[in-house]
Amino acid sequence: MIGFSQKEGITAGAAALTVLLGAAAVSAPAGAQTTAGDPAAGERVFRQCAACHTVEPDRHRAGPSLYGVFGQQAGAVEGFRYSRAMREADIVWDDETLTAYLADPNGFLPGTSMRIALRTAEDAPDLIAYLRTLGAE
Ligand code: HEC
Repeated sequence: MIGFSQKEGITAGAAALTVLLGAAAVSAPAGAQTTAGDPAAGERVFRQCAACHTVEPDRHRAGPSLYGVFGQQAGAVEGFRYSRAMREADIVWDDETLTAYLADPNGFLPGTSMRIALRTAEDAPDLIAYLRTLGAE
């Protein structure tokens, strides 16, 4: 019996480690994602963003194209005129920084010209899961 419960513990530990490693694997190919977010739901949430952002490379609106934004340095898209705050920001877009920026753009990065926050903070994981798929093929 003791042997059995030890084995259970090891299995659970290994599963937890797999989840942690998966979350850290920023460049994991689409399909191998282990984040909690649902990219299909995130694509619907993205309608809030589409007035100002496309997901096609080099197509900018009021905001820059978000193609490949996950894992990218902030303010790095060629041909888009960022605010000074964004150009000078030393930020890489990941789960943490995107969640904070989308919840309160000006609180996270004072001076940013993005004036709008994500309407519902609970949508952030799905939205970020969707952003991860862009340019990840
Ligand atoms: C009203 C227009 C507008 C809307 C709506 C909007 N944004 Fe933005 N977004 C901008 C602008 C303008 C910038 C450039 C900010 C700067 O230079 O400070 C920006 C920048 C960004 C950046 C940084 C990109 C980079 O290249 O560093 C991300 C990420 C982003 N927006 C995500 C989103 C998401 C996700 C949504 C939807 C929840 C959204 N935005 C909605 C206007 C908008």
